[in-house]
Amino acid sequence: MSEVSLLKQLARSLMTGQPVAASDPHRLHWHLAPPVGLLNDPNGFIQANGRYHLFYQWNPLACRHGAKWWGHWSSADLVHWQHEPVALLPTEEYEINGCYSGSAVQHDGKITLIYTGNVKYADGSRTAYQCLAEELPDGTYRKLGPVIPLPEGYTGHVRDPKVWQHDGHWYMVLAAQSAELTGKVLFYRSADLTEWQLLGEIAGAHLNGLKEFGYMWECPDLFPLDGQDVLICCPQGLAAEQYRYLNLYQCGYFTGKLDYRQAEFPHGEFRELDLGFEFYAPQTTETADGRRLMFGWLGLPDDNELVQPTIKYGWVNSMTCPRELSLRDGILCQQPVKELQQLRQGTGTDWQGSAEQAPELAAVSAELLIDVSGTFSLSLRDEATLDWDGECLILTRRNWRTGEQESRYWFGSLRSLQLLLDSSSLELFINDGEACMTARYFPDPEKQTLHFQGAGTVSIHHWLLSACVIE
Ligand code: FRU
Repeated sequence: MSEVSLLKQLARSLMTGQPVAASDPHRLHWHLAPPVGLLNDPNGFIQANGRYHLFYQWNPLACRHGAKWWGHWSSADLVHWQHEPVALLPTEEYEINGCYSGSAVQHDGKITLIYTGNVKYADGSRTAYQCLAEELPDGTYRKLGPVIPLPEGYTGHVRDPKVWQHDGHWYMVLAAQSAELTGKVLFYRSADLTEWQLLGEIAGAHLNGLKEFGYMWECPDLFPLDGQDVLICCPQGLAAEQYRYLNLYQCGYFTGKLDYRQAEFPHGEFRELDLGFEFYAPQTTETADGRRLMFGWLGLPDDNELVQPTIKYGWVNSMTCPRELSLRDGILCQQPVKELQQLRQGTGTDWQGSAEQAPELAAVSAELLIDVSGTFSLSLRDEATLDWDGECLILTRRNWRTGEQESRYWFGSLRSLQLLLDSSSLELFINDGEACMTARYFPDPEKQTLHFQGAGTVSIHHWLLSACVIE
């Protein structure tokens, strides 16, 4: 048996055995998390023949970044997932330092993966190849090798191909760093997924009215939505402002109209996709019923990441919940997919009245819909708080690395909140998804409730959520 088959078998037994992760009090109950090791970006998100497939950047060998593999889960309903054989391992010269992020399409009835082969050199430089792999009948993937070498005029930071079909052609957006060290999005076309033509740069620093805008843009995704085109990307190197760009790297979007012939994407201003602490490198797909769905990495490669308490249980990071996207008044709105309602236990409980008198509610694995009038604050398991002062919604948590309190902000007119809580994560949807705040937090496992305070009135609907383990 080859070393690769042995490694794949090892990975399989790690996935299906009783991983140490299961004994972690902070192990997530209904989010997708790695059985062992480190997970980062969602990759290859696609619905094919009625089944959802989600691949992920994975280092199963350690809770740190390294030469990434592609893990693979599938699901019929976006709620119950099963492990699939590992899709990609970095075994070839052209990907030896990692099978980096990419996407999936259906071609000739098979799922085809387009990903980045990452190669690092001893002097610290690197190169990148965009590569193909196709599905085999047993659910494993056969590599077809590189199809795009490093384009001229760019550093070795060229990666994360996102491919889609339009008018009989394949198109790709690709993240790139120019020789001048600015972030760009390249636009390619192909008739067959193998021969690719670079049409030009469609977005980036010094384009479309932007000036400086970071030294690298990672994980671009471009798709039509409600009559416009949306470009999601993750710029690195934006300076923090008072209330914006507060995380190490940003993740946001532009709306505009893609001109396929001229290879141009005139667009509006950059807006952050999520105003919380941990959200990065999302990827979308279109479903058979015409919805645009997105998973994000509920994490970020910052100083907090590699000191998370879960590491002593052998795993780190997770996906966000799957979210449905829509455009409302030019704003990209996100809502948890309706399928997640399957997790709600029973009909839930209702309560209405002064925030001060609201009952303590279970918060380990729960969903809350809250209509708000007047100011209030909400303590989440004594580890994080939400404060609404009539103008600004402030999410504060204790940083698990420094022990300090830290905050994130949303300004607007608050009508409603939807909170999805897992054992160590929170996802907050403001005004039916007009804004989102996503975060990890690590409360004392004994502290399991949330409580309200304040002069305002709240109307609360509360459900406990079922656990949903990957099979
Ligand atoms: C984003 C990213 C991608 C890269 C991958 C490597 O988090 O840096 O640009 O392909 O992670 O794991």
